[in-house]
Amino acid sequence: MISATFNHPEGTTDTLQIDPGVSLMKAAVLNGIGNIIGECGGQAMCATCHVLVQPEYRDQLPPLGEDEDEMLDCAATERTEGSRLGCQLKAGEHFSAIEVDLPEAQ
Ligand code: FES
Repeated sequence: MISATFNHPEGTTDTLQIDPGVSLMKAAVLNGIGNIIGECGGQAMCATCHVLVQPEYRDQLPPLGEDEDEMLDCAATERTEGSRLGCQLKAGEHFSAIEVDLPEAQ
């Protein structure tokens, strides 16, 4: 199991243990983590799974994909250096532990 911590804009925090191969978005939606929607089901077509990865967890992640990069430009909350699409980050494949801030709007 892979640990993922979600910091909500309201100041609360949730931590999940995710099975390898499951995306951050899917784990969040299945476990009722608010502030992540995942409208397109993980196709990198909606940007409603926008997460802001904490600096110490960024180096392990794969480079931004072209689709991911384009979608982040359309995110409801302005992208930052740590912005990623949660649907493109899979536990075990792309991160061994992660902590993200959730944006004010998706
Ligand atoms: S769920 Fe739509 S872009 Fe990630």
